[in-house]
Amino acid sequence: MNYYENALLGADAYRKKDKPIMLAIESSCDETAASIVRGGREVLSMSVFTQIPIHRKYGGVVPELASRSHVEKVGSVVADALEQANLSIADVDAVSATYGPGLVGALLVGLSYAKGLAYAANKPFIGADHIAGHIAANYLSYPDLQPPFVCLVASGGHSHIILVEGYNSFKLLGCTRDDAAGEAFDKCAKVMGLPYPGGPVIDRRAKEGDPKAFRFARPRVEGYDYSFSGLKTSFLYTLRDAVAADPDFIVKHEADLCASLQSTIVEILLDKLVRASKETGIRDIAIAGGVSANSGLRDGIVETGRRRGWRTFLPEFKFTTDNAAMIAMAGYYRYKQGEFASLDVSPVARLEEL
Ligand code: KG4
Ligand code: ZN
Repeated sequence: MNYYENALLGADAYRKKDKPIMLAIESSCDETAASIVRGGREVLSMSVFTQIPIHRKYGGVVPELASRSHVEKVGSVVADALEQANLSIADVDAVSATYGPGLVGALLVGLSYAKGLAYAANKPFIGADHIAGHIAANYLSYPDLQPPFVCLVASGGHSHIILVEGYNSFKLLGCTRDDAAGEAFDKCAKVMGLPYPGGPVIDRRAKEGDPKAFRFARPRVEGYDYSFSGLKTSFLYTLRDAVAADPDFIVKHEADLCASLQSTIVEILLDKLVRASKETGIRDIAIAGGVSANSGLRDGIVETGRRRGWRTFLPEFKFTTDNAAMIAMAGYYRYKQGEFASLDVSPVARLEEL
């Protein structure tokens, strides 16, 4: 019997477990993370090494540096997750890892490590989709949340509106045609000379500014799709002209610029979400991904939800940006369905469907 058959047989037995213990690894971008979650609800440990300081001086993620840092850290992050949970690999029922979407070189590290671990410990292996992970993080914060619901997934790499039809069943209603929402935050912050990643910095500075001080271009895109490149250009031109007239313009108006930019991005995100809710008739609305940590977006969703009779789901902050508990969750629902992966699963930069 080869490893794969063996693992599947094991999986058959494990599947009968009510509360499988999932060890998950996430390495799709600039966080090396491992986590152990029991029964798809109980987070036994979370270990995250963030590479942000490594990439900061380049103003964005450098893929080669990301891969190298993942190689350096993945072993200790997994060991830390096991230690925090007071478990050994033998106690784990399955191993899951992100196989995409993300940076291929970065994904390859976590995925290969996870496959090696599963092989050595003779555990079933599960490939998890990063977006499904962001969505599934909501079940950790809201154990009673059930599909169907509409989820806005907004991060540095994605801006998707997804109809979550089931735990493993998703319909992509819309996505960005160019930049993602997090990218818009980060690129505009860079133009202002703010450090990477700009999203959290803009969020903080926006609190002291006037969201109506400046007006930037809003996209006109049909359906549920987003576009943020026009906003980015409009922001850039506003600053270029203003700085030509007054070199201190950015410093003088930093808070107002941050507040106006943030409120524009939030307005764009909410506009399509409202439409998705209206047209699907679904009023359970969740958000996910790094940008779901944004206070303007969180307030905006709650306020819109109050007016429209939505039930809104905002994940706890620790589950918004990349982490491995969310990958354990995506893995858990695949495990329940018996969707185990063979060890030849490869990383995928872009996934056509979830
Ligand atoms: O989900 P994530 O950790 O990684 C990706 O899958 O991309 O998201 C990172 C993105 C970055 O663009 C970052 O600027 C943004 O999430 N972000 C925020 C906030 N916190 C993180 N954007 C706006 N406001 C925040 N508070
Ligand atoms: Zn992410």
